[in-house]
Amino acid sequence: MAHRMTGPIRTLVIGGSGQIGARVTGRLLAMGHAVSVLTRGAAVAPGARALTGALSDRSAVRAALETGIDRVVLITPDMRDQGEVETAIIAELAAAKVGFVAKLSAQSAGLSPPVSFGRHHAVAERALVVSGLPHAVLRPTFYQDSLLLFAGDIRRGKPMMLPVKSGRVAMVAASDVAEALALLAHRAEPRSPVTLTGPAALSFPDIAGMIGAATGQRVGFRTVPALLARLVLPLAAGLPFWKAQLVVDLFRAIERGAQEPVSRDGPALLGRPPATLSDFLAARHADFAPDAS
Ligand SMILES: NC(=O)c1ccc[n+]([C@@H]2O[C@H](COP(=O)([O-])OP(=O)(O)OC[C@H]3O[C@@H](n4cnc5c(N)ncnc54)[C@H](OP(=O)(O)O)[C@@H]3O)[C@@H](O)[C@H]2O)c1
Repeated sequence: MAHRMTGPIRTLVIGGSGQIGARVTGRLLAMGHAVSVLTRGAAVAPGARALTGALSDRSAVRAALETGIDRVVLITPDMRDQGEVETAIIAELAAAKVGFVAKLSAQSAGLSPPVSFGRHHAVAERALVVSGLPHAVLRPTFYQDSLLLFAGDIRRGKPMMLPVKSGRVAMVAASDVAEALALLAHRAEPRSPVTLTGPAALSFPDIAGMIGAATGQRVGFRTVPALLARLVLPLAAGLPFWKAQLVVDLFRAIERGAQEPVSRDGPALLGRPPATLSDFLAARHADFAPDAS
């Protein structure tokens, strides 16, 4: 798409109503972009334009691009066919000749071989390279915010239970992921993938201890055997079967140290150290604090 000589940069955020996308949208608006969000009907950030349609519907993506888009931020949720969905979106971006694509990937896509959710992202990253579109890819580790999945159990005095025996993970704040992705879209410099980690690798028993210390309670940690987790997670946590398998695969990779290295990419891009887990726990203290009863 030919770049206009005047006016704000017109950026489409695919997935822009979600956990990361809503924050990216806010940041791009603050940086002066005219932001559109493709959504099936969710609320979007004030100041953004909502374009109705599903990111999994190619014709909806095409229609969104036909409104006049210079750059795209590509975020898709975990889906069984995520690699194919993103590949189809990228084909539409290439047909529309968008000026730049900033894609949210996962650290597990950069492993050799890619594992778990990263296998889908690796397929999409490859499609982006083959498309020839100018792009940047952000590969974050496990979000600190994913610990909120355990908040209800922790408030009720139950231990954290995960299919992981050992290994440490350099978890990253979702707010840092959003800031980094918005910066990549704003700077629009084609580059090799950016690995975004938190500032320190922690074991899950350490993390349980830190949640306990931050909220004045004892938070235990228990390992669930991987085979049991594969069978039980779909029932106990309501996860679809395919997703439960990818979750267990990710924790197996973590046991092998896959998310232990602390990357220097984040500080270089953000111009500051990424947020610590203590920062996150201070901000979300009320979510984990024991139920008053
Ligand atoms: N969680 C982690 O620790 C972690 C770590 C590294 C990377 N990641 C990556 O982060 C990405 C997810 O980011 P996120 O949490 O910001 O996404 P999200 O909030 O789960 O989803 C983004 C948007 O996708 C749309 N959506 C959801 N389900 C859909 C469906 N079935 N069909 C069509 N559209 C659907 C929704 O938009 P509408 O309802 O408005 O249409 C939603 O707002 C994934 O690619 C994941 O691999 C996650």
